[in-house]
Parts: sequence; C-alpha cells; structure tokens
Amino acid sequence: MSTNEGKVILVVGGACGMGAATVCALYRQGAHLVVLDLNEEAWEDLVEDEGLEDGPGTIDFVGGDVCDAAVRQRAIDIVREKYGKLDGLLYIAGVLDLMCPAHKTDDELYDYVMDVNVNSCFRMCRDCLPLLWDHEGLPANIVIVGSVGGQVGSSAGAAYITSKHAVLGLARNLAHTYRFRNVRTNVVNPGACVTDILGNAMEKWPDRDIMDLEGNEIYNVRGAVALGVDWDGKNITGFPEDIANAILYLISDEAHYVNGAQLNVDGGWTSF
Ligand SMILES: NC(=O)c1ccc[n+]([C@@H]2O[C@H](COP(=O)([O-])OP(=O)(O)OC[C@H]3O[C@@H](n4cnc5c(N)ncnc54)[C@H](O)[C@@H]3O)[C@@H](O)[C@H]2O)c1
Repeated sequence: MSTNEGKVILVVGGACGMGAATVCALYRQGAHLVVLDLNEEAWEDLVEDEGLEDGPGTIDFVGGDVCDAAVRQRAIDIVREKYGKLDGLLYIAGVLDLMCPAHKTDDELYDYVMDVNVNSCFRMCRDCLPLLWDHEGLPANIVIVGSVGGQVGSSAGAAYITSKHAVLGLARNLAHTYRFRNVRTNVVNPGACVTDILGNAMEKWPDRDIMDLEGNEIYNVRGAVALGVDWDGKNITGFPEDIANAILYLISDEAHYVNGAQLNVDGGWTSF
C-alpha cells in the first residue's frame, strides 16, 4: 500500500482508541500530523509509551474541545502556517450516549452527542476544505469515523444513532460536491471495538446508568450483539488497529476511486 510519508494530516480525536492507533501508524510512515484532542493526559502517555518523539513523523498537538471554535481554528492555523496545505482530515472523535432511549434523553445529553459527533465534524470539514482541495494538483481525503450505528437503529441510544446516521449524509454530500476538486470523503463504520469509549462516557456522566431498565427493554436483543457478542454467543469484538488499517486504506492511492463509500469494519455484525 502507498505510504503517507510527508503527507500533512489533521487528526481529530487522536489521543485514545482508534485515533491513537491511526496516529501511531501514520507517524511511523513519516507523516506530518496535527492532532486535536481533549484528553491531554492520555496524549502525553501515548507519546511516551509509543515513542512519538523519535521520528520519522512529526506531530503538533492541540489540546482542547473540538466543539470550541477557537480550538478548531488553532489546529487549522497550524496546518496553514506550517504547511500551507492539507492532505487528509480524519475526524475520529466521538462520544457515546450511554444507550439512552429517546424519552430519557434530555437536551444536555442530546446536544453534547450531536456537538461532538456531528456539528463539530461538519464545521471541521467545512473549514478544512480550502486547504484540502487542489493543493499542488494532488488528491486529498476526508475520513469520518461513523459506526454500525449509522446503518441500524439498535446498537446505541437515540442521540448516538441519530448522530452516526447524520455523518453519512455529510460524507456523501462532500464526496459528490468536491469530487472534481480532488477531495474524496469516506466513512469507516466500526463495530464493537476494544477502546475506552464506554469508560469515558461513564466518567462524563457518572450519575447516569449505562442502560437503564427501560433502555434495556428496548435494546435488549440487538444491544447484546452491539456490545460485541454474536447471535451464537461468540465474541466478535475488534481492535483499534483494525479501524486504523481501514482508514489507511481509504486515504491511500489504491483507494483513489473510492469516494462516498462506507466501509464497515465490524466482523460481519451488520451482514446477517
Ligand atoms: N469503540 C467502539 O466500539 C466503537 C464502535 C463504533 C464506532 N465507534 C466510533 O469510533 C470513534 C472512535 O472511538 P473510540 O472507540 O476510539 O473512542 P475513545 O473514547 O477511545 O477515543 C475517542 C477520542 O476522541 C476524543 N474526544 C472525545 N470528545 C472530544 C472532544 N469534544 N474534543 C476533542 N476530542 C474529543 C477523546 O478524548 C478520545 O481521545 C468514535 O467516533 C466512535 O463513535 C466506536
């Protein structure tokens, strides 16, 4: 597969989980990365544990909330001032709604999930597009990490499912609109993967149940499957590197004709 050496890539949500695995893979290929993430502690641990200071890549880290316009702008300014172009925007950050059903989802939870998963994704794509298109006549990429929850109605709560359906629409529109500007946009839909996403949500909402009784009644059957257990009881959980590999394929030259696609990486979860 083609390498990403020398490419300038902005990663939103690169400190943990799938984003961290993607950052490590790109860094080892020699990419120039700008990483935006809320979790500065996790980022410092990642840099130390994975030796992300020894090259061959380079990294600028922007600590902060992607929902904050000034934080987004800081990351984009670094790209513009340091490189003057962008080869890839990877929007990987995402948050769970703790499987909350619609009638239990208050505005605070709904707005939080939509702000991180959709609104900031839209704004980041919008604001990066001028740096992505037609630079040096070379192709550029957007990859958004969605979820199998963007294809089915039952793998999470109402806000999360809404958010992951929404980014598919965004990706398709971008793919179609900017196809003649050399910008491809694709979505990776992970199935259940071993990351801290649930723990992070529980930390954010300590007073809420993961699945309250009413939620359980609604999501009971498919909910069990969504958490990584197949119909026959076998575990079908994936790992962050599985998603990183899919992202690397989508931004590679080998995927030059793949645009507006959804790549499910779910061990067959959605194929039954
Ligand atoms: N883990 C799964 O089973 C699973 C399944 C389907 C889809 N996904 C999706 O995959 C993506 C990555 O999730 P993950 O499992 O690696 O989760 P994770 O929690 O391990 O990583 C998410 C990263 O995003 C960052 N982040 C969250 N909110 C942010 C904000 N407001 N501003 C800046 N950074 C923020 C976190 O700090 C973290 O580094 C998400 O979009 C998620 O919805 C995950």
